[in-house]
Amino acid sequence: MDIDHWSSVADDFIEAASASVKGQVRTHVLHQHLMDHLPGPPAAILDVGGGAGHQAIPLARAGFDVTLLDSSATMLGQAERRLASEPGDVRNRVRLLQAEGEQAQEATNGQRFSAVLCHGVLMYLEDPAALVSSLCECVSPGGLVSVMALNARTLAILPALRRRWQDALVAFDAETEDGVLGVRTRADTVEGMSELLRRHDVQPVAWYGVWLFADWMPLPGVTADEVTQLAAVELEASRRDPYRQLSRVFHLVGRRVSSGHPPGSHPRPVRSPRR
Ligand SMILES: C[S@@+](CC[C@H](N)C(=O)[O-])C[C@H]1O[C@@H](n2cnc3c(N)ncnc32)[C@H](O)[C@@H]1O
Repeated sequence: MDIDHWSSVADDFIEAASASVKGQVRTHVLHQHLMDHLPGPPAAILDVGGGAGHQAIPLARAGFDVTLLDSSATMLGQAERRLASEPGDVRNRVRLLQAEGEQAQEATNGQRFSAVLCHGVLMYLEDPAALVSSLCECVSPGGLVSVMALNARTLAILPALRRRWQDALVAFDAETEDGVLGVRTRADTVEGMSELLRRHDVQPVAWYGVWLFADWMPLPGVTADEVTQLAAVELEASRRDPYRQLSRVFHLVGRRVSSGHPPGSHPRPVRSPRR
């Protein structure tokens, strides 16, 4: 999707990502996963396709130095607006950068980051290879790459729950769908994305589900207290089989092989889920 298209869906995305229960749950669940893997603040984090800063701002609040890179001036404007209501120290920890993620290294002058995030972006690209390569280039040895992508294994659930039976039948073997922003989105598998990371010396260390209950059920009139409880349930589901496998999107984290480990001799297996 090009820059102009993002300007036309920016408001819908802000609504979906922050105002909605789904958005709040997602930010919470991803933030908790990241805190399990990130080094302590003020480690430098690059958020590629960081949009309006829904993940970047909580990380800056936690003390991390965040570079939010995005190709859309409209989305960066939204991030700037949201940052304006943050305290000065949080604002000062976020740098906004307009660039294509595929050119992130040049745009950041070759800086290597302790973590590179790319959440909810790959699904809008026909081929994720160039962007994944760029993410892996920008991370320092031993650093973290964090990717959130649409789960190709669960595309039949949403049409089935909406009683669109023919669509559901087709979705079992589909690789794309019409996403919530009215844009065609492409799905990935954990295995396929893991393989792509390995090709760039990033060893997958853990994967999680994101959105199980919050995605499938309507939640009108939910209170703030219920959102907190729902987020706690979603976090547990995100870490366990079989729940994580049924989630709408997946969150995969990998670690760049440090110079001591030649590619292909990575010692750490993907973390087993809790039961
Ligand atoms: C759905 S939003 C996700 C925003 C944010 N990562 C989040 O999770 O809240 C997708 C963002 O990716 C950006 N984007 C899409 N393709 C990109 C690319 N090739 N390089 C940089 N940003 C891109 C869009 O401008 C948009 O802000």
